Amino acid sequence: MHQKLPMRNKSRSCCTKCLLGTLLYVFVLVLLLFVIVFVIIPVVFKYSIGIQRNIIFPSWLIQPKNYSDIEALGIKGVQNFYVTVDREDIPSHTSVEKNVTLGVWQILPYEILSELIDNEEYNYEGVLNNGNYSILMYLHGNGMDRTGGIETYEVLRKQFHIFAVDYRGYGDSSMAEMTETHIVEDMVQFYKWLMKRTNSKIFIWGHSLGTGVGTHLLANLKKENISSMGLILETPFTSVTDVMITHPIIKVFSFLPWFRTTLIDPMVSNDFNFESKKYILDVDCPIMILHAKDDTIIPHKFATELYNIAVNNRNGDYQGNITYHLFDAGRGYDHFFIYRAPELPNYIDNFVTECEIFEKKIQ
Ligand SMILES: *[C@@H]1O[C@H](CO)[C@@H](O)[C@H](O)[C@H]1NC(C)=O
Ligand SMILES: *[C@@H]1O[C@H](CO)[C@@H](O)[C@H](O)[C@H]1NC(C)=O
Ligand SMILES: *[C@@H]1O[C@H](CO)[C@@H](O)[C@H](O)[C@H]1NC(C)=O
Ligand SMILES: *[C@@H]1O[C@H](CO)[C@@H](O)[C@H](O)[C@H]1NC(C)=O
Ligand SMILES: *[C@@H]1O[C@H](CO)[C@@H](O)[C@H](O)[C@H]1NC(C)=O
Repeated sequence: MHQKLPMRNKSRSCCTKCLLGTLLYVFVLVLLLFVIVFVIIPVVFKYSIGIQRNIIFPSWLIQPKNYSDIEALGIKGVQNFYVTVDREDIPSHTSVEKNVTLGVWQILPYEILSELIDNEEYNYEGVLNNGNYSILMYLHGNGMDRTGGIETYEVLRKQFHIFAVDYRGYGDSSMAEMTETHIVEDMVQFYKWLMKRTNSKIFIWGHSLGTGVGTHLLANLKKENISSMGLILETPFTSVTDVMITHPIIKVFSFLPWFRTTLIDPMVSNDFNFESKKYILDVDCPIMILHAKDDTIIPHKFATELYNIAVNNRNGDYQGNITYHLFDAGRGYDHFFIYRAPELPNYIDNFVTECEIFEKKIQ
């Protein structure tokens, strides 16, 4: 007994050491984890334009496909073609490519489609010239290519002759440097390409990130005294950083003193912010906003905020009115299914009529 006691004491102090060791180990592990999550990740993010670009433009997630194989992709009456935009605005000493080729789908209006016989050679260019149908330039979201809106096109082609274009870096368009400025300027050139070939009225439809492209595009066209007939924003937002700040994953970081400088500000300085709340003030045509209350990707409060900014700061008399349709949550339209709304064709009809009235008024 007497001999065992010291041993027991020894083992007890050993155990205390074990416990202390374990605690220290856990502490170091937690500290390391904290440093990795809250220091290294934000700092790497701040300095990696590549990571920021791949998050805002996840075009690498999209399956490559044969964009000419129209029927296999699930639509009819579509011509696949390519437009090379000459970016004269880019100084020749920069490494950025001046000529960018964009993949385009020309989606015939439903009325013509019903006359079209399968596989027959069709004069697509003739339709563009004849001016009988209003044109809709469709700007897709960041996780899609020009095939992403097929269900929406089937609804919209009842009223429009659609041109859906892939941004640089998307689909089989040129793999040129993706920034907001470059994408929007490519679209300015594509808009002018359309204007040169048709007398039809041109409307612009943006979905998700495409609403940021469309709003900025119209603000840039205004500088050249070009105005469109109307702008339709499906699931818009106020700016990319506004949406980021409220994202559940990003919110976890918001207590950090370096939150803004590492995670938010670089998105602005690297030209990824798509600040629609600023550009919408320079949109000089009627606007229609569509959003669903159950949108899980862009909460509808951003559309409401954009609407309020536009209503309070644009002049309806010479810039056109703005209309907002917010669909109830129970309908399950979320971020991608507003095309299912039975009242959508009616909303579009009313909007087109409003745009025509507005155009006559300002002329
Ligand atoms: C893509 O599809 C078109 C139309 O079906 C076909 O003519 C062409 O050969 C295909 N291209 C490739 C690379 O498979
Ligand atoms: C860019 O396109 C324009 C017009 O299409 C052409 O004149 C010019 O040579 C092209 N430049 C390059 C570098 O390919
Ligand atoms: C355009 O519309 C006019 C009037 O409805 C019609 O006479 C003409 O044939 C149409 N043109 C084409 C190419 O469809
Ligand atoms: C746009 O129109 C205004 C007023 O008519 C004119 O002063 C300005 O020079 C025009 N700008 C361009 C780029 O054509
Ligand atoms: C724009 O809104 C005003 C005020 O609500 C209304 O009086 C006007 O008719 C609208 N304009 C058009 C073209 O719908």
